[in-house]
Amino acid sequence: MSPAPPSRPWRPPLGLRRAPVAWARQRPTWREARPALIAGALARAQARPAGNWYVVGASRELRPGRPLGRTVAGREVVLWRDGEGLPLAGPGMCPHLGAPLRDGPVLDGALVCRWHGLCLDGKPVAGWTPWPAHDDGVLVWVRLDAAGQEEPTPRPAVPARPAAAGALTAVYTAVGACEPEDVVANRLDPWHGAWFHPYSFVDLTVVEAPGPDSGDDAFTVDVSFRVAGRLVVPVRAVFTAPGPRTVVMRITAGEGVGSVVETHATPLGPDSAGRPRTAVVEAVVATSGRTGFAAVRRAAPLLRPLVRAAAGRLWRDDLAYAERRWALRSSGSFPG
Ligand code: FES
Ligand SMILES: [Fe+2]
Repeated sequence: MSPAPPSRPWRPPLGLRRAPVAWARQRPTWREARPALIAGALARAQARPAGNWYVVGASRELRPGRPLGRTVAGREVVLWRDGEGLPLAGPGMCPHLGAPLRDGPVLDGALVCRWHGLCLDGKPVAGWTPWPAHDDGVLVWVRLDAAGQEEPTPRPAVPARPAAAGALTAVYTAVGACEPEDVVANRLDPWHGAWFHPYSFVDLTVVEAPGPDSGDDAFTVDVSFRVAGRLVVPVRAVFTAPGPRTVVMRITAGEGVGSVVETHATPLGPDSAGRPRTAVVEAVVATSGRTGFAAVRRAAPLLRPLVRAAAGRLWRDDLAYAERRWALRSSGSFPG
């Protein structure tokens, strides 16, 4: 993707809002945030292939010696690391009498069923067949061909990120009663940022919105991350949806150039009321745009708003948006 050129002169990374606008007096964005435009961007995202790969969680959640049990797309999945630290995955139910494999110990890289000792080393055994897994260094993925029903790919399409050695990385996970498309639709509506999240974002302008012929199919947004009071970090951010369940925000101007926030929506399965549940797994890979981890550490106070922007409060609100969207869709009353 080619970064959009800044439309205004360079400003220092940390700024004071010169003429703060009260929340209620900012420019309404609803006319620009056309439902058909958002629906079009969502439809194009959904048409992109994912090769049947689903994000499970943070790489560091999958610890050596300990299995990780999850439900993904209605399937019970167990993951663990082999003797070399590589991820393995497969059905979470023991093929013998159904024990939850997530409760077993990992010994010398093999997962042992607690009920009768069936030993899984990642190869097919006793009717148990592994599923491909991938650790990209930040996130762990599993490939579920029966769920995705696409042409499978050997690896997931991992978005380009700053090198880990020069970056601050954080992964947040939250779960909502909605479908992945509701999470993606929320992210493809950048116009809500300063209205719905005034504690994090101010002075938001959508500089460019995508269309079917707009190349990168990207939203370009000028926005300030709020640090405290009038103190802000102005940036330009570009949003793209490289796959049906992923939206990537990339900082292309201002402090933290090159930093990336990846939002992955993973379908889990229905809750006890029959509503769909979706996990939002958000990876923030923040960099200062300067070389070296020391520089990033020095820039950490400036990057922290970006990292924090992905944290709990934002997702509490964004999940409320996504859940509301699902509730309206499922009752046939969504206005879009
Ligand atoms: S249920 Fe797992 S070995 Fe018997
Ligand atoms: Fe939001």
